[in-house]
Amino acid sequence: MAFTIAIDGPAAAGKGTIGRALAAHFGFGHLDTGLLYRATGRRMLSGLDAVEAARNLTPEDLDAGDLRTPDVSQAASHVAAIPEVRQALLDFQRAFARRAGGAVLDGRDIGTVICPDADVKLFVTANDEERARRRHRELSDSGETVTRAEVMEDLRQRDERDSARAEAPLRPAEDAHKLDTSEMTIEEAIASAVAIVEAKLG
Ligand code: CDP
Repeated sequence: MAFTIAIDGPAAAGKGTIGRALAAHFGFGHLDTGLLYRATGRRMLSGLDAVEAARNLTPEDLDAGDLRTPDVSQAASHVAAIPEVRQALLDFQRAFARRAGGAVLDGRDIGTVICPDADVKLFVTANDEERARRRHRELSDSGETVTRAEVMEDLRQRDERDSARAEAPLRPAEDAHKLDTSEMTIEEAIASAVAIVEAKLG
């Protein structure tokens, strides 16, 4: 059975954590679509044309250890505004969404462009302070030396660019469930998301 869960929201709102947890809970596959843009941005930083990079991504590109650095984050949001880059990544995402056994995809345009007919759509948010705090801790834990202010600036710039672009901008689908996780623990956020999906599964 194909069952698609679309998760969108601004940077570092908890989409990945919730997406991974939902996939584990229901036994679905999970695709972090941000990784596709990060891998494309990373290859652009190493001198490749962004559109060519997106057309020729390999599984190894998605495994690179440095995809979460602030430089790669910024490059990802720059290449994500290029329509040909988004087009090159479309078929892979749609095929994943239809895989037998269920799929969870998280990103910016999953509920609006990639899977407008998704069975469940979530739009996950958290306030700026909380998102910067969480991402800063995540980066520090993985050995990055970056200040909270730098993280906040990266999130602010990317959200602005991602929301303002003409192609597939960051915005909630009309039928998305909004989940503000600012005041929630990870467990509470996951429990809320699981309840929404269970209601739909019946
Ligand atoms: O983890 P975080 O929320 O910080 O970012 P991400 O989901 O890894 O996405 C990195 C960048 O890729 C975003 O800032 C967007 O510019 C872009 N992106 C996109 O345009 N569309 C998607 N479906 C996923 C990511």
